[in-house]
Amino acid sequence: MVETGVKELRLPVEADTVEFGRRLGGLLRAGDLVLLSGPLGAGKTALTRGIAEGLGVAGRVSSPTFVIAREHRAAPGGRGVPLVHVDAYRLGGHLDELDDLDLDTELVDAAVVVEWGEGVAERLSDDHLLIRLTRLDDDVRVAELHPHGSWTTRELP
Ligand SMILES: Nc1ncnc2c1ncn2[C@@H]1O[C@H](COP(=O)(O)OP(=O)(O)O)[C@@H](O)[C@H]1O
Ligand SMILES: [Mg+2]
Repeated sequence: MVETGVKELRLPVEADTVEFGRRLGGLLRAGDLVLLSGPLGAGKTALTRGIAEGLGVAGRVSSPTFVIAREHRAAPGGRGVPLVHVDAYRLGGHLDELDDLDLDTELVDAAVVVEWGEGVAERLSDDHLLIRLTRLDDDVRVAELHPHGSWTTRELP
């Protein structure tokens, strides 16, 4: 797979990460796949919270302890695109469990965001946006955007 144009963003505080997510959520359409990678505490869930705000979906985004995927339905005043938020951490690389979630069906009508998705969820679609989050110190994060497929020609946040 050819990777083009990596964009890097510096996110000094959590509010910046949420705001970045909000901008991304404002660009997402049904069928979009976003993969988030980065260690525990990197800000994947914070970013997803922003994406949910940008999409204007219902419900609170959290790090689900017992749930692997949570659907946030489209809400009045939002963009009309539901969000499926997957936390693949507990899958521990068990790809068949990912298949059990039927994300390819969800991916038609919803935007799907997968935490810990790198190396696991790309097979759901060649068209995806990979965001790698790294932690520079207690607060500062850097987001690297890796567009794949049709994302290479789309507007990035
Ligand atoms: N710039 C930043 N961006 C995102 N989170 C930050 C930032 N600075 C500090 N934090 C803190 O880091 C933690 C990130 O947690 P979370 O989003 O749950 O990470 P992950 O889902 O990657 O494990 C939160 O406690 C948040 O307050
Ligand atoms: Mg998380």
